[in-house]
Amino acid sequence: MKHSELIEYKLRGEKITCLTAYDASFAKIIDGAGTDIVLVGDSLGMVIQGAENTLAVTMQQMIHHTEIVAKPCQQALVIADMPFKSYENAGLALDNAKSLIAAGANMVKLEGGSEHQDVFRLLNSNNINVCGHLGLQPQLVVDSSGYKIQGKDDIGAQKILDDALLLESLGVSVIVLECIPRELAKNVSQSLRIPTIGIGAGSACDGQVLVSYDMLGITSGRLPRFARNFMVGKGSVRLAIESFNEEVKAGTYPSIDETY
Ligand code: KIV
Repeated sequence: MKHSELIEYKLRGEKITCLTAYDASFAKIIDGAGTDIVLVGDSLGMVIQGAENTLAVTMQQMIHHTEIVAKPCQQALVIADMPFKSYENAGLALDNAKSLIAAGANMVKLEGGSEHQDVFRLLNSNNINVCGHLGLQPQLVVDSSGYKIQGKDDIGAQKILDDALLLESLGVSVIVLECIPRELAKNVSQSLRIPTIGIGAGSACDGQVLVSYDMLGITSGRLPRFARNFMVGKGSVRLAIESFNEEVKAGTYPSIDETY
């Protein structure tokens, strides 16, 4: 997928598939299976480094993982997460975003809304493609009790919608919606020209993303209800990933039981 195709997918109603990768082997399989987007997520703090949250992930680590993921990707759009404290002000954000693009990313992702509007504005005026991330923002979570559904009350829901509209107006290309009620995600998705990519946000989003280690059954412990194990009944990682792609495109993942 090319950056310019994001809007075309939304216009023709084709769902966008996205999975995380942190190394070349997984990136090659995910890209080879035809997944539209490969996300070098700062979830690497948990799934690769064994930390409780994403907060200790550094720019140096993100650059390293972006380089090794981007190299084998032949068709997927590569998005790299900007880690905690890497976009505290607009100038710092621009320098760090440029480093991730130089490492091979086609786009950078950062969490938050209006509080970072100067960052979104500067990245846009420097032609950096940006993915937003609203709803549950893992960089605001310090322990596992913080992983909660967001936007359940009217004020929270309105803030997410307002932030989404603001990000679109500031040139953001696509927005990840994490752990919000499916009706809110539907409303946000229908209110935007740019696509949304949901994780725990229901099937009305314009695409779906999962942490690859979750959907392959590698992650231990209790997983959120949306994290379906696509390895069940499949003989290989490639088949599990193809199944995720097929079910997202068909609109059968996530099911109603996998949403809030
Ligand atoms: O870091 C990550 O894997 C993410 C996804 C949860 C969207 O941001």
